[in-house]
Amino acid sequence: MKSVISPMKMASGLTEFWSPRVIAELDDSYVKVAKLKGTLAWHDHENEDELFLILKGELTMEYQNRQVRLKQGDLHVVPKGTLHNPIADKECLVMLIERKSTLHTGDVQTEKTRDISEQLRVLEPQHSETEKDMK
Ligand code: NI
Repeated sequence: MKSVISPMKMASGLTEFWSPRVIAELDDSYVKVAKLKGTLAWHDHENEDELFLILKGELTMEYQNRQVRLKQGDLHVVPKGTLHNPIADKECLVMLIERKSTLHTGDVQTEKTRDISEQLRVLEPQHSETEKDMK
């Protein structure tokens, strides 16, 4: 992997919603980007916290007894063992930091669930038109 990475450019290169992609790794964790719209699924991660950094747009993290509203630049950690469900009314780009053992939707399997091999597929960053023209 490259030594300098732009999470925003990587996230902008995403074509699928709810399909996180690994952009870096450190020790026992992965850094991922994802493009979100709509809702994922209620789930929890029994042994792992899950960090969300909002790169673009807004995200609501729904919990059983409250909602956390996140906007661009906000960082939020979903505590381990806590049922949660992310909701994006409009398209939203996020960066995630998760342990390598973290399953996308915990013990829940849905058609949106992506396993780690899918998350490790190579992602091409988006290049602006000007960058293309300069090549
Ligand atoms: Ni989660």
